[in-house]
Amino acid sequence: MMAEALPSLPSVPGPRGTGPTYSIAFVCLGNICRSPTAEAVMTRKLAEAGLDRDVVVSSSGTGTWHLGEAMDRRAATTLAAHGYDPTRHRAALFEGDGFAEHDLVLAMDKQNFHDIVAMASDDEDGRRVQMFRAFDPLAGDELDVPDPFYGAQGGFDEVLAIVERTCDALVDAVAAIRRPS
Ligand code: 4NP
Repeated sequence: MMAEALPSLPSVPGPRGTGPTYSIAFVCLGNICRSPTAEAVMTRKLAEAGLDRDVVVSSSGTGTWHLGEAMDRRAATTLAAHGYDPTRHRAALFEGDGFAEHDLVLAMDKQNFHDIVAMASDDEDGRRVQMFRAFDPLAGDELDVPDPFYGAQGGFDEVLAIVERTCDALVDAVAAIRRPS
């Protein structure tokens, strides 16, 4: 039987400027569950790959309800149980002027994507917005990271599994453009 070919994953856009670091922003709705989970996971995976001095990550949300708050307790518990550090997070807002600071802006679901793109001031901003799960080798047609906020604990475990495998692929994609030529 022939092995099924895995879909090819997207590449990341090159850096905006000549600065020493490549900046990735993870964006969800409340910035207390999904995007801070991605920030914590990616922070550790970049360090493990030796890329933590080359790539900086942050997270923010498109909604204002939780600004300044710590991570959702269930998200934090899930992360801590897997050895990640959830303690330093404080929820922040993604605003249009944030584009200038980032080389890549990754939306956790389609609504986030739509809301972020609406804040882009030009095509250059717009092309730097991608769906986070576009890098998930198992995503298939489902590109949303499911919102766990109104659900049960199992939703947080599912989010972490999605985020971990997607960040593995994202580290590879970023490494491909950071490799010295
Ligand atoms: P997040 O989850 O976008 O993954 O941080 C949510 C957090 C809060 C709300 C919705 C989603 N909320 O409606 O307050």
